[in-house]
This record gives sequence, C-alpha cells and structure tokens, in this order.
Amino acid sequence: MKIVHTITELREHLAQFSRPAFVPTMGNLHEGHLALVRQAKPLGDVTVASIFVNRLQFLPHEDFDTYPRTWGADCDKLQAAGCDLLFAPDEKELYPEPQTFKVHPPAELADILEGYFRPGFFVGVCTVVMKLFACVQPGVAVFGNKDYQQLMIIRRMVQQFALPIEIVGAETTRAPDGLALSSRNGYLSASERLEAVQLSLALKAMAAALKAGEQDMAALEAHAMKTLAERGWQPDYLAARRRSDLQAPQPGDALVLLGAAKLGTTRLIDNLEV
Ligand code: PAF
Repeated sequence: MKIVHTITELREHLAQFSRPAFVPTMGNLHEGHLALVRQAKPLGDVTVASIFVNRLQFLPHEDFDTYPRTWGADCDKLQAAGCDLLFAPDEKELYPEPQTFKVHPPAELADILEGYFRPGFFVGVCTVVMKLFACVQPGVAVFGNKDYQQLMIIRRMVQQFALPIEIVGAETTRAPDGLALSSRNGYLSASERLEAVQLSLALKAMAAALKAGEQDMAALEAHAMKTLAERGWQPDYLAARRRSDLQAPQPGDALVLLGAAKLGTTRLIDNLEV
C-alpha cells in the first residue's frame, strides 16, 4: 500500500487511474471500516482510503483532541484489507488557511436529529468530504449506513453539485451481540460494553411495536427514550422518520428508526430500516 501525505503526491499517483474507489475515514479503524474498503475494492481500478480527523465536524466540547489516533495499526489493517493508496494529510495540508468557504447542507436535513444535537456537524462533514472528493476525484465512494443521516446528506450534496461520483451505502457491521461497530465503542468500560447493545435492542423493540400496529409515533418514541433512560442512558433521540427525507412520517411511508444516546460519557448512534 502506497502512503501519501500531500495533495500533489496523491494526484501524481492517481493520474494513471480512471476510477478510484474511495473510503474516507477518521482513522482508529475497526472491522466496519475494513468492510467498506473490501466493498470498495471491486468498484474501481484503485482503492483509496483517507485518514483525517476533521476538526470542523467537532463541537468545542467534543473529543477532537482525544479522538484515538492509531496510525500504525490503521496502516496494517488497511494494507491487509487490500487498500492500494492511503491519503493521510495533516491539518496544514488540508486546511492551509482557515477554511472559510464551507458547504452548508439544508437545515431541514442537517439541523435535525444528529445536526440538532451537534450543531454545525454536517457543515464540517460536507466541507471535508467535498474537499476530499476534490483531492481524490473518485468515481465511487463508500460510506457506512450506520451514519444514516450523513450518508443521506452526502448523497444529496453529490446530486445537487452534479459531482460525477457514485455513492454506495454499506451495511452496518455489528459485533456478535448486535452492537454497531464504531470507533467510539473503544471508550466504553467493560460494563458499559455489555449494556451498549440496548440501543439497538430499543430500536428493535420500536420496530416490533410498529409491526404490532402502534400508530402513535410520539408515544413510541417516548417509550423507547424512557426505557433507555431507566437503564441509565441519556438518550438524545429515538425517532421514527420517513426514509426518503428523515421528516415525520405519514401513514404508509417507509420508515427508518434512528437513535442516539449517551452511555456514561460515550455517545452511540444506530438505526434500523423497517
Ligand atoms: O464518517 C466519518 O468517519 C466522517 O464523518 C468522514 C465521512 C470521514 C468525514 O470526516
């Protein structure tokens, strides 16, 4: 695997390829990221991953400074997964001056759910993804379904800016107990790790209630929030939304259930299409 740290080197190396398949990451890689790399591999003529912890998508009180940087292990894992090229710019390379031009996704999509609890998060994500797309110029890019709202926003961004990039959503990789893999799972204590699957179980319980005929979405959401809160979680939201645009559903809409909750100091998210 070739490793490059500058946009110039990246472009030189990519000049010989016509359809890079791209997996952007913030490092601290786990099996979920590697599944994205493996899924990307047959989709292009060169497989490119990036590692960049993007300051713009962290709120001041969030974990930017302590976000795990596991460079050596990440390189080994990417190499083993068949990644051809790793782009790992430092902050000066990607943001040589304050990034004052930013991509602002529409409020109705980006200021709800994750964006409501993490104001500015999707501006940071869209801005860095747009910049990484400009650097890599991929033919296809693979993102995890676990970050459901992020994937939807990136799809819309690519569509509205007419970027010639196919966006592929990859199924969430889960631990044997059902916990969605996430870099932040590493923050969980042993007892929290045992409890963590309850977020996914809460979404499954919501799905079962819907299947059994529940129609009162507010009651469904409130019950799920209460169940988690009683177990010691601090839920931000457990919500039933329309799959197409994440707005409140109308009868007959295809639904997705989305949840975000803190367990101790660790914030976890998950979702389930029903
Ligand atoms: O999902 C992530 O890891 C990040 O939001 C991304 C897409 C790499 C942008 O920093």
